[in-house]
Amino acid sequence: MRMLPLWRIGLCQRKHELVRAFLAPAKPRATLLRSVPAIYRLKVKAAAAVARMASAGGDEGRTRDPASNPKVVELRKCINKDAKDGWEKCWEEGLTPWDLGQTTPAVSGLVQSGSLPKGRVLIPGCGHGYDVVAMAGPDRYVVGLDISTSATEKAKALSSSLPNANQFTFVAGNFFTWQPTEKFDLIFDYTFFCAIDPCLRPAWAEKIKDLLKPEGELITLIMLVSDQEGGPPFNTTVADYEEVLTPVGFKAMVIEDNELAVKPRKGREKLARWKRISKQSSL
Ligand SMILES: C[S@@+](CC[C@H](N)C(=O)[O-])C[C@H]1O[C@@H](n2cnc3c(N)ncnc32)[C@H](O)[C@@H]1O
Repeated sequence: MRMLPLWRIGLCQRKHELVRAFLAPAKPRATLLRSVPAIYRLKVKAAAAVARMASAGGDEGRTRDPASNPKVVELRKCINKDAKDGWEKCWEEGLTPWDLGQTTPAVSGLVQSGSLPKGRVLIPGCGHGYDVVAMAGPDRYVVGLDISTSATEKAKALSSSLPNANQFTFVAGNFFTWQPTEKFDLIFDYTFFCAIDPCLRPAWAEKIKDLLKPEGELITLIMLVSDQEGGPPFNTTVADYEEVLTPVGFKAMVIEDNELAVKPRKGREKLARWKRISKQSSL
């Protein structure tokens, strides 16, 4: 496995702070878990979220401009103040306006379509792990990775008694430094790319390449973000993905509108499926 090109991370504006933040291991933190059975909590939370989104368009959907959502303003302060522990703090304090509280509908669509690769799947920045659970099954073992211990502990608590619980796992760790024992057949990214500082995007692409098997597939559910000064979420276009993925050998096989986007994100999401293009012989 190739080492991370650390010099690229070093190009960041907040160079020293970010390099320290992204190379240090995540600190475990104690989390208080309620004693209500996990499956019951998952069902209650999902039902509440569906009702909320149907009526109000979801928490994040109060406005289309993230910068005018008070929770986004708070989370930006939190993360920009402390690049290392900021995400942990946000999860602990419930500053999670991105959290749908249910499986991303596009993920349910992909599972139902039968078009997902089988084997080992990685979901970096998995949060509470609804998509991890939804993709896992007899054909797919899914690893949900998140830098926040609070998020992964809650994800475990929500899902540990589900029937497919032995087909997924949650790991607390930093995507940029994490070294799994085995590579993956599929990596799925949703709202992770737009959440990291844009100066880390080349390192994100290198790491995706390193973690995927040569024939593996990358699926990015792209949330288009514009007109933001800073983030997260940071300004994001399809071209931003191409800019970092093309140099490491990926090509988009499909880029299409996400017809299944939740109401507040409708018309602002693209689903892209990427494969590595093998080098052609010049002879
Ligand atoms: C915008 S949230 C998206 C969460 C989830 N994908 C969802 O849609 O609900 C971004 C997630 O990335 C995680 N994260 C941020 N930096 C990370 C890193 N370097 N390694 C792993 N996870 C990270 C955060 O803790 C957070 O859960």
